[in-house]
Amino acid sequence: MKKLLITGGAGFIGSHVVRRFVKQYPHYHIYNLDALTYAGNLENIADIEHESNYTFVKGDIRDAEFINNLFSQNDFVGVIHLAAESHVDRSITNPMDFITTNIIGTVNLLNAARESWKGSFDGRRFYHVSTDEVYGSLGSEGFFVETTAYDPQSPYSASKASSDHLVRAYGNTYKLPVVISNCSNNYGPNQFPEKLLPLAINNIVNKRPIPIYGKGENIRDWLYVEDHASAIDTIFHNASLGETYNIGGHNELQNIELIRMLCNLMDEKLGRANGESAKLITFVTDRAGHDLRYAIDASKIAKDLGWKPSLQFPEGLRKTVDWYLSHSEWIQNILSGDYEKYYQKQYQGR
Ligand code: NAD
Ligand code: TYD
Repeated sequence: MKKLLITGGAGFIGSHVVRRFVKQYPHYHIYNLDALTYAGNLENIADIEHESNYTFVKGDIRDAEFINNLFSQNDFVGVIHLAAESHVDRSITNPMDFITTNIIGTVNLLNAARESWKGSFDGRRFYHVSTDEVYGSLGSEGFFVETTAYDPQSPYSASKASSDHLVRAYGNTYKLPVVISNCSNNYGPNQFPEKLLPLAINNIVNKRPIPIYGKGENIRDWLYVEDHASAIDTIFHNASLGETYNIGGHNELQNIELIRMLCNLMDEKLGRANGESAKLITFVTDRAGHDLRYAIDASKIAKDLGWKPSLQFPEGLRKTVDWYLSHSEWIQNILSGDYEKYYQKQYQGR
């Protein structure tokens, strides 16, 4: 069996990627490496934990010795690297975690792969999963393409941009067989409720204010998480080495439009009067340096690799809401941790 290392597989997107690979590719043995930070949750992948082609490894990508040992003990054919600090607001209050995990952690993995694969890079692949936020902020027109110049604006996006540069540098300098993708905002089951959609769903259920930063005019391009996992699968198996692909949902919405759609759906699902949930919308102090608009031109991946998103947004939103409403235990387990402390610090007095 071929050993494949997936990092960050206890997080939101990583858990969908791990599940997909464990189920669809019995000839791979999937090693899921995750430090189980606040965002890592083994419940996200409880359904596959006993599969014979799956092993969970608790470990920190910041620990170079640990990573080197892992690679010397296992002959990985590939790495799909998703482990990261991923929340912009946390990067504003605590940038150093983003520098150490997203930059140094990525370099530790690159060094270990380079050392372990030095006999031959044939058949190997180091796939770095990144974000469209590295391109910075768009005005009301235009799209990010793969050649758009990097212009990151938050500590999070700057740390991801740095890691992308280092991955490309290892490809160029050492001929490490790398590929990169930059994806738009994901939504779907298992997303930690610090991000807009699950936070709003949880607050609506509990009749708490829904905090909208600024005027809610910022635009994001939303992609259902399983579609991101399918794009990652396509790129991992079919992209030429050294390539970069943008992944997006062709689904731009202003935050306020998105939240109004969500409120209507939540009224329907919770049997509340029409307009009840929208009363919870509360405009709060804007995020510092808040990027106005992200929008992906995903024509390269469609043309080269034949990938397109499978779900339209209204259907994806319904699936997402249904999942959160039928997994109240998953939410409760998160809320019982440090979440309330984080929430008070982030939103009090805004
Ligand atoms: P997440 O925060 O939900 O999960 C991150 C996972 O990484 C967690 O399981 C966490 O425990 C693990 N992790 C964090 N630091 C670690 C460390 N030092 N060592 C080992 N494991 C560590 O993030 P996500 O939203 O699933 O994002 C996954 C990846 O996709 C990230 O690289 C992110 O930049 C990228 N991405 C995310 C989005 C999005 O909309 N969420 C969009 C594009 C790209
Ligand atoms: P988020 O889910 O944090 O993703 P990102 O910042 O990576 O795009 O935020 C999505 C959008 O929603 C972004 O424009 C910030 C905004 N937002 C709010 O208005 N209120 C909130 O409480 C949060 C978490 C985000």
